[in-house]
Amino acid sequence: MESSELKEIIQGIPKAELHLHIEGSFEPELMFEIAKRNNIDLAYDSIESIKKAYKFNNLQEFLDIYYTGAQVLIHEQDFFDLTWAYLTKVHSQNVVHVEIFFDPQTHTDRGVGFDVVINGIHKALEKGKQELNISYKLIMSYLRHLSEEAAFSTLESSLPFKDWIDGVGLDSSEMGNPPSKFVNVFKASANHGYQLVAHAGEEGPSDYIWEALDLLKVVRIDHGNRCLDDEALVQRLLEQNIPLTLCPLSNVELKVIQKMEDHPVRKMLDKGILATIHSDDPAYFGGYMNENYYETAKALDLDKNQLMQLAINGFEASWLSTEAKEKHISEVKEYFNS
Ligand code: HPA
Ligand code: ZN
Repeated sequence: MESSELKEIIQGIPKAELHLHIEGSFEPELMFEIAKRNNIDLAYDSIESIKKAYKFNNLQEFLDIYYTGAQVLIHEQDFFDLTWAYLTKVHSQNVVHVEIFFDPQTHTDRGVGFDVVINGIHKALEKGKQELNISYKLIMSYLRHLSEEAAFSTLESSLPFKDWIDGVGLDSSEMGNPPSKFVNVFKASANHGYQLVAHAGEEGPSDYIWEALDLLKVVRIDHGNRCLDDEALVQRLLEQNIPLTLCPLSNVELKVIQKMEDHPVRKMLDKGILATIHSDDPAYFGGYMNENYYETAKALDLDKNQLMQLAINGFEASWLSTEAKEKHISEVKEYFNS
C-alpha cells in the first residue's frame, strides 16, 4: 500500500484510545505557556531544546523527564488545558472513545490537591463529550516506585470523586516493583467498585504479567509485550480474552524493542490475542493514535483486515456498554466494507 493511501485509511478509522497518560500528552508548546503563566523556570530555553532532550535509553530515563515536565501543572485550569488539548488533537484523528490515565501522586506529592487535578481533567472530559462527541473513562494510576501505603492514601483521596473514576492502574518504574507489591490496595480498590488494570511486561518479565492477572486480578494488561516469551501465558490470555494495550512508538522510543519491525503485535494478532494499539505518552514518543497505527502498519506490513481487527479490538477491550461496543464495531466494519 502507498504511504498516502495507508494514512488516509487510518485517518478514517473510528478509534478507541485505551492507554494514554494525560501527563504524557503535555506538548512542549503548552508546557512553555503554562510555565510562563505560573512563573516557573523551565530547565530549557526553547521548544527545540525540550524536544532535543527527548532521547531515552529506557523507561526510567523517560520517567525522569516526564515527572519534571508535570511539575509545571499547578492550577485546575492547567489540568483542564492539558486534557482539552489532548481531546481536540485526537478528535482530529477520529478517536471517538478514550480511557485515559492520570497520576495523582505526581501532583499531590508536590502539594497540588487531588480535587484540583481531577476537577480540571473531568471538566475537559465532559466538554469533550458534549462538544466533540468523545465518550470517556478515567483511570487513576498508582505509581509503583512508591509504597503500597502511599497508594492506599491516594485511594482514600479519590473516594469523594469515585463517580468520576472508572478504574485504577499501575504505572512508573516496572523493574523491581512487581504487581505483588500492590495486592492489598488493588483488592481495596475493587471493593470500592473500581475496575483494575496494570502495566506489566513492558520492561519487566512475563512473571509480572502472571502476577497482574493472578494476584491483582486485572481485566486488561497495559503493554504486555513480553507475553510471547511464555506459551502458557499466551494460552491464559486467549482463554480469558485478556486485552493487551500496546504502544508501538513508546516501545521503540524506550528501547523495549530495537526497531518497529520487531514489534510483537502482528504475531499477537495471528495468535488471536486481543491486542490493541495506543499512544502512551504521545508528546514524548513522536505520535498520537494515527502515527502509532501508521508506523506499525508500515513496518509490519499490516493489511486492511489486520487494521480493522486492531480497531475492533480497541472497542472490544474498552469499558463501554455492550450496546456502545456493538455500535462502534459495526461502524468500523462498515468503514472497511464500503
Ligand atoms: N510505563 C510506565 N509508566 C509510565 C509510562 C510507561 O510507558 N508512561 C507514563 N508512565
Ligand atoms: Zn503507559
